[in-house]
Amino acid sequence: MHLLIVLAHPEKKSFNAHLAQQAQDTWRAQGHQATVLDLYAEQFEPREGDWHYSSRLDAGHFDTMQEQRHHWHQQALPRDVERHIELLLRADALILQFPFWWFGAPAILKGWMDRVFVYGGLYQSQRRHERGIMRGKKALVVSTAGASAQACAANGRDGDMRLLLWPILHSLHYIGFEVLEPYLIHGVRSGLAGEAQAQQRSALEQRILDYRARLMGWEQWPAIPFNRQQDFTEELSLKPGAPSYSPFVRHLP
Ligand SMILES: Cc1cc2nc3c(=O)[nH]c(=O)nc-3n(C[C@H](O)[C@H](O)[C@H](O)COP(=O)(O)O)c2cc1C
Repeated sequence: MHLLIVLAHPEKKSFNAHLAQQAQDTWRAQGHQATVLDLYAEQFEPREGDWHYSSRLDAGHFDTMQEQRHHWHQQALPRDVERHIELLLRADALILQFPFWWFGAPAILKGWMDRVFVYGGLYQSQRRHERGIMRGKKALVVSTAGASAQACAANGRDGDMRLLLWPILHSLHYIGFEVLEPYLIHGVRSGLAGEAQAQQRSALEQRILDYRARLMGWEQWPAIPFNRQQDFTEELSLKPGAPSYSPFVRHLP
């Protein structure tokens, strides 16, 4: 079993980098392979744009999807994108590790998805969702927030963090992953000192122990339900009586 951990944090000594390391160690201790792809360390370029494409289908108009597909078929994708796709295809499991920044993922991770989940290669109309290229592989989002668990709860001041992650979770499902319930660590505050810092450190140490134990029980980690193709009409609306698993895909009142 090969685990790919994609880390999006600018600081090597951060708690997020530590979590990525913990996942790698836990996975390896069980005799598996684990690779950390550190986007900042690689200085990954998150902006998609025409300058990445060397053998343009249409030099006069940059159509991102068409150029992605064309370069995938020509085996002419940018070298970093090619390498990251190889890592994804080789992996049996994926972890996205990032701090919660402005109610979502850091821009470098969004850009990674924009550039690496290439049209024609990692998805196309007939290969999406439960028929996606990544079918049979599991993906887990692990994210830390500065705000407390209460503030990030469904009735909390900052809004439901689990729900705010839906675009990322859904994107992973879109390319075929079985998406696991995200692992969220709240109250990771910076700038603490003295007793408050000591208290946070001991709380986070407990979370790391819990995270490692959960990783060791990877097979039991619950998956998020998504609607299947058969739940939708030809116009792609939820059929009456079909289950709704998220406020993002719900029955109209
Ligand atoms: C640009 C930026 C945006 C942030 N936005 C949020 C946010 O929307 N919600 C939140 O709870 N914390 C937010 N934070 C706090 C971070 O989530 C927190 O510092 C981080 O999870 C701590 O992990 P680290 O020590 O690995 O950096 C933000 C921090 C930064 C730098």
